[in-house]
Amino acid sequence: MNTFDVFNKLPLQIVKGKGSHVWDLHNHKYLDLYGGHAVISVGHSHPHYIATIKKQLEQVAFYSNSIEMPLQDTIAQKLGILSGLENYQFFLCNSGAEANENALKLASFHNGRKKTICFTGGFHGRTSLSVATTDNAYIKAPINETANVIQLPFNDCVALQNLFSEMGEQISSVIVEGIQGVGGIIPATPEFLSTIRNCCTQYGAIYIADAIQCGYGRTGQFFSHDIAGVKADIYTMAKGIANGFPVGALAITDFIKPSKGLLGTTFGGSYLACAATFAVLQIFEQESLVFRAKQTGEYLIGELSKMDKVVAVRGRGLMIGIELPKELSYIRTQLMEIDRILTGEAGPQIIRVLPALNLSFNDATFFLETLHTRLSQA
Ligand SMILES: Cc1ncc(COP(=O)(O)O)c(C=O)c1O
Repeated sequence: MNTFDVFNKLPLQIVKGKGSHVWDLHNHKYLDLYGGHAVISVGHSHPHYIATIKKQLEQVAFYSNSIEMPLQDTIAQKLGILSGLENYQFFLCNSGAEANENALKLASFHNGRKKTICFTGGFHGRTSLSVATTDNAYIKAPINETANVIQLPFNDCVALQNLFSEMGEQISSVIVEGIQGVGGIIPATPEFLSTIRNCCTQYGAIYIADAIQCGYGRTGQFFSHDIAGVKADIYTMAKGIANGFPVGALAITDFIKPSKGLLGTTFGGSYLACAATFAVLQIFEQESLVFRAKQTGEYLIGELSKMDKVVAVRGRGLMIGIELPKELSYIRTQLMEIDRILTGEAGPQIIRVLPALNLSFNDATFFLETLHTRLSQA
């Protein structure tokens, strides 16, 4: 059997990771500003992360949600405090798409309505509802087509208000990224997020904040949506939450009531998943990672904005998009092949920087100097 060939792969095999660095098969060391797509939040092979998972593995690795899981409650308490969502309810699953799928269903269970609003440039995953709300026709199969999804222009408050005044009673939910990741690091404006909040409150719809890529401290606030000063009804999380262990999660407002069997999962919230999630939360606290993401991000964005050939720098904290002129789209490959710096992309011209939140200032400076050199030589 061969693997199903769907991934665009870099010509690279990683065999070791430590902090913000990885090593390939030939022992070449790379600065990792990509983190396997915004997943590595506390750095590769963090000693506390390893020790916690190892200890749990030696005790018991798995049992399902059919028994008491006190570690889930401990995580919920800690996450509530760190994120400012003390009164919310916590549900663990296995991926970002599953978290969004559950959020969209919960909204519909709650208000009994069918329609959800999503936005141009949005990405919410590849399962049925999550892909239906994603703005990419190529990844939607005919079976994913549904009249229940309404796509509106991103950051357009008037279009949103008009739609709500036309058919607000039919709208179950609005799903939105605080900063669009796959879409090219495009921040939602605070006005737009506040308008979503107001429309949802007025018409009884559920505001779903997709914080899978832009959340969990990456932007220097716990949720990038926080910039608007309003709260969503459901936050979805994944990626950095367990530093690579597959975990998705929802924080659900208190007025959405649970009932037995409403949601479920076999693997979600297992001992190992909880150990990984808990270890990450402890490291966040011990190393003040949300604050560090803010500081290092401000430094990077400030310096990148001064670079001549850079068309635009977008994002906040350690979620940064560097837009280059079309003719310089080869720079990302040079950074990888010559300078051994790994970055992500959002389309050929936009370099996506999504490093671990404890990226050091030295490593950030190394990246800035290297990019500056590459651009000067271009
Ligand atoms: C904003 C956003 N939502 C949802 C997802 C889907 O997450 P997963 O790949 O864990 O299903 C992603 C993945 O990139 C994402 O960036």
